[in-house]
Amino acid sequence: MPDPLRAQQGPSRVELKARRTYFWCSCGRSKRQPFCDGSHAGTELTPARFTPGEDGEAVLCGCKRTGTRPFCDGTHNRLAVTDASASIPQHEAGEAGCLHLSAPKS
Ligand code: FES
Repeated sequence: MPDPLRAQQGPSRVELKARRTYFWCSCGRSKRQPFCDGSHAGTELTPARFTPGEDGEAVLCGCKRTGTRPFCDGTHNRLAVTDASASIPQHEAGEAGCLHLSAPKS
């Protein structure tokens, strides 16, 4: 399986709606980050489908190396910065409004 591209250095904070199905980009090629736009076609990578159980803000992975797809797990903090001008959003697990450790409901 090919390594995904790093779409950005850190996560994206997004507002999600309960019971709506989302597709998180796992390949890093989408122009609609952090969501899929079909750009994974021709790769072995596929988007992660998830449906939040409640309305609210979520912190979705942008580095595409998280172990808790689609949510950021802080892995980006251990990756080398690939662009010195890039800012890296910092946050902690359990931060107010952060759903990144919530298990996605399907
Ligand atoms: S942005 Fe990928 S783990 Fe945080």
